[in-house]
Order: sequence, then structure tokens, then C-alpha cells
Amino acid sequence: MKRIGLLTSGGDCQALNAAMRGVVKALWYTLGPEEVEIYGFFQGYKGLIYSNYRKLEFSDFSGILTRGGTILGSSRMPFKLMREPDENGLDKVAAMKQNYYKLNLDCLVILGGNGTHKTANLLREEGLNIVTLPKTIDNDLWGTDMTFGFQSAVNIATNAIDCIHTTAASHGRVFIVEVMGHKVGWLTLNAGIAGGADIILIPEIPYDIDKIVTAINKRHERGSAFTILAVAEGAISKEDAALSKKDLLKKQEKSTYPSVSYEIADKIQKMTGLEIRVTVPGHTQRGGSPCPYDRVLASRLGTAAAELIMKGEYGYMVGIVNREVGKIPLEDVAGKLKMVSPDATIIKEAKLLGISFAD
Ligand code: F6P
Repeated sequence: MKRIGLLTSGGDCQALNAAMRGVVKALWYTLGPEEVEIYGFFQGYKGLIYSNYRKLEFSDFSGILTRGGTILGSSRMPFKLMREPDENGLDKVAAMKQNYYKLNLDCLVILGGNGTHKTANLLREEGLNIVTLPKTIDNDLWGTDMTFGFQSAVNIATNAIDCIHTTAASHGRVFIVEVMGHKVGWLTLNAGIAGGADIILIPEIPYDIDKIVTAINKRHERGSAFTILAVAEGAISKEDAALSKKDLLKKQEKSTYPSVSYEIADKIQKMTGLEIRVTVPGHTQRGGSPCPYDRVLASRLGTAAAELIMKGEYGYMVGIVNREVGKIPLEDVAGKLKMVSPDATIIKEAKLLGISFAD
């Protein structure tokens, strides 16, 4: 008999349901339904802390391969607050352990991104059996080449750029499409290339506003009346990148712009007199049905997690390592970001396509 806990934590993304379905189907079909019990904790770690869970049936996992979001719900619970008691003095870590032992679980399967993995590793250090799956549209989890959710988000962000292309061309305007991705540029870089953006700004390559204007002017000289910028929500100017963390925070607190794209738009407008528009697809990038790539990836990783559980191998994240499904020790994953290297071949290739990074 295997007794498994399941939870999804942090910002949601596409294919979370597909991944859970993969875990559960593989266990059920291999061990038999009478040999597996699944408990779903609701709203991420909150469900584990506050005993909000339910025993799940096979039917709960039927028809969810294509469904976006998560059947368990999710929430953000900052890692730095995990060791602090809640407003009623409850020890959260002790409460999570208590629920784990109360249900006599063999393993807790956790689907999440960076913050989630720090807490997952904490629970491993506390002696719980943990297996994790890498979800995030940001693709910034260290240790796996790919996270599920990412390709679906690339599709949506690319579609936004595609739609902007036609209207930008009709009006001869400069358009900024702001893409999610938190502190990394994977999503913007991929959607930018796929959507034919002229300028791509990512956090890993701080931009020079003069270089942005030069790139726009060059396009005008070559007869292109419009320009499209794909700007990561975490894009940063060279001047701001040179500031200390404290000074940067102070500056950001004082800023009246809703986001980085509006600041860039304002500057371009003042420097060129051109008409600029900003489009922010925002959380649409995390929504809707997973693309086929993510359905396959999440299903594969789900079955890989089930295999680890059946072998009793705990303390790992399953992921894609050198194009194959593999396992990565949780202590190696926790607390590390996978960023775009400014020297990556994909950056060189994008530059050969004439894309400016304004660096
Ligand atoms: O990590 C996924 C993500 O969508 C990031 O791209 C974005 O910065 C963040 O979550 C938004 O978080 P929230 O849903 O809490 O606004």
C-alpha cells in the first residue's frame, strides 16, 4: 500500500492537472487501485498546514489532462515565513509534519516553482519523503532544462505579439509587449524570437535606452514604420543594474509607472516623439489549456515521479536533463535560479536575425 499526498503551490500554470494525472495513473495502473491512496491538500502548503485535504478517487483525475489551473487550488506561502509562527502562534512546519504523519503518508508529491522548492527541501530536511515536479511559466528552475507551463505561455505571449504585429504595421507605431517571467528572460526571449520582435529586453542583459532609440531609428531609415519590443517584466536599464539592491528598491518604490514597459515607453516617446503603445498580456500567459508539448512533458514527468515513489527513492525533483527525463537532488535545486546566459548561442542567433538587445 502506498499513501501519497499531493499539493500544488505558488503561481499556477498550465499542465499542473496533467502532471498530477500522470503520477496517479502510473501508480494506479502499476500497483492496482486497492494498493494506492491519494490525499489532495488544497491551496498549496496552506492545506498541509491547516488540515484542508480530501481523499481523492480515480474519477478525480479523469478528464483533467487538458484542463488549465489546478484541481487542488494553489497559494503563495513565502519560504521566509515558513519558520515563523502564524498569527495564532501555530508552528507551520510542525503542523505540516503532523498532518503527514497523521495520514501515515509514504511520500508527499509537490508541484511548484522556486519558492515551493525551498519549502519542499525544508520538509525533506525535516525527515519527510518528498518528490517534486517542476512547474512554472518562467522556466527558471535550476536543474531541469524545461518546466511544464513554459511552452504554453510561450504560445500565448507569441500570439499576443502576432496580434500586435498587424495593428503596429497598420498604424506605423512603436509597440511594447510586456511578457511575464519574473526575474528571468526565457519567456520573453522565446516569445520575442517566435513573434518576430525587433527589440528584446531581458533582465540578464541590462538595456541602454539610447540603443533602443538607435534600433528604432535604424528601422525607420530602412523603411519600417513600426517597431515591436518584447520586454520582460523584469527588464532593467544599465543604470539601474549598477545600483545597489537598496537604492534600486528605493527608486522602484518612488516610481509612478505601473511597470517597466511604461517607463521605457515614456522615455522613447520623449526622445523620438513617436507614438508608443504598451500591451500587457499578464496572467493570460498562465491561463487556459496546456499546449500538447506541456501535456506530454507533464505526463512524462508525472510517471517518472510515480516510478521514484514505487522504488522508494525520495528527495528528488524529476526534470529534463540533457533531453532525457531524470532526477535531481532537492538540495541542489532549492534556492537556485536558472537564468539566460548573455553568451548563450540563442542570444547570438537572435542577434544574427537582426534583433537588438539594446546592450
Ligand atoms: O512565477 C510565475 C509568474 O507568473 C511570474 O511570471 C510573475 O512574475 C508572477 O508569477 C506573478 O505572480 P502573481 O500571480 O502572484 O501576481
